[in-house]
Amino acid sequence: MALWGGRFSGGPDPLFRELNDSLPFDYQLAREDVEGSIAQARAIHRAGVLTKDELAALLAALDELLTEVSANPRAPLAEAGQHEDIHSWVESRLVARVGQLGKKLHTGRSRNDQVATDLRLWTRRAIDHRLAELLDARKALVAFAQQHHDVILPGYTHLQRAQPVLLAHWALAYNEMLARDHARLTDARARLNVSPLGSGALAGSAYPIDRELLAKDMGFASASRNSLDAVSDRDFALETLASLSILAMHLSRLGEDLVLYTSQEFAFFDPDDAFSSGSSLMPQKKNPDAAELLRGKSGRIIASFTSLITTLKGLPLAYNKDLQEDKEPLFDAMKHISLMLRSVPRIFAGLSVRKDTCLRAAQGGYSNATDLADYLVGKGVPFRDAHEQAGKCVRLGLERSKPLEDLTLTELRQHAPACDQDVYNRISITQGLASRNLLGGTGPIAVKAALEAAHKELQQL
Ligand code: ARG
Repeated sequence: MALWGGRFSGGPDPLFRELNDSLPFDYQLAREDVEGSIAQARAIHRAGVLTKDELAALLAALDELLTEVSANPRAPLAEAGQHEDIHSWVESRLVARVGQLGKKLHTGRSRNDQVATDLRLWTRRAIDHRLAELLDARKALVAFAQQHHDVILPGYTHLQRAQPVLLAHWALAYNEMLARDHARLTDARARLNVSPLGSGALAGSAYPIDRELLAKDMGFASASRNSLDAVSDRDFALETLASLSILAMHLSRLGEDLVLYTSQEFAFFDPDDAFSSGSSLMPQKKNPDAAELLRGKSGRIIASFTSLITTLKGLPLAYNKDLQEDKEPLFDAMKHISLMLRSVPRIFAGLSVRKDTCLRAAQGGYSNATDLADYLVGKGVPFRDAHEQAGKCVRLGLERSKPLEDLTLTELRQHAPACDQDVYNRISITQGLASRNLLGGTGPIAVKAALEAAHKELQQL
């Protein structure tokens, strides 16, 4: 069904139609377009445009349509090529059901305020789904931390062994990142929850619509305050994509840690067969594809953000057809971040941890050298000198192929004369961890408290 054409002498060129039609992707807004139309029908009835009977007939038809598109969201695709966009498709379905009356629905509405409304409704719903998935991912991380609370593994800086940390501390680090992502998406949702409907094409509807009531009818917190802004604003989509990009970046870093830790070089974890793949050539291979895709898919999500901000940056007020390019990046990012988020609990559920390998690695690489320096500080040596002395002890250990704890007291005293017998306890891995029980540290007591806090926080969400 064509929504315009009165002033045109002929039909559009087929190539133009291909360029211009959005139904092949905006069919995904069918449900929201019908929901917005239901609110629109009520609003123009209140404004005196529709009689009570007309409203009832329209609502009945829209209700049927809602059932139809909910049951078969791809239904509009069957008619691609016949309708320019989802708005034309919905209107044609309405006219097919109620005849001429269907043509009254668009009174005082433009596709400009309509599409802005639809996309906000769609994004709001999508964010709600993502928040639930994000919560499940966080629960999986916290459960993993709980399950392996006594595993010690090396902590890295520059990807060099630095200081031992608890595996739980590592997992909870990602929970922190995802907590911020949760907050960012929740924040974006709150700013998104404003209704553009009633803004018309750009100047506001010419009918006395109660826009606040109309907004409330669709679950929006308020109505937009400027019609020019409302029809051309896509900040909500951009802000959502920015939040998803940061989330994807976090999942990518998690994926990278998992790729490393499941490699034979690290061998800390063994991934589940069901979430790995083999090689068509090398029979021995088991590849961490799921973790790689947490990393790999982040690229397209960040690209979606870049795509939309680039589309928006030079647009004059108000609506421009460029804005039609807002949908595919948003749809694509939502689809793929959902796959990533839903994979996280499965990846962690299937991960086996090689506790002994982790411990051995944590004990290697002189990662207790800082503890030796701290021990010396406790004996009154200024930190700068303690650092120097501990470094020399490391060099001695390297020369003799021994870890610090295997150097004799005489050997240690060559460079660190303040050392006593109690040094061995202080530089043991358990003591090294136990000395870091301050807030945010990797000491077992601090991590236990962090785990309890995380549990509590997740229960409240
Ligand atoms: N398909 C269009 C879009 O996605 C709908 C709005 C069309 N408005 C217009 N004035 N041609 O933006």
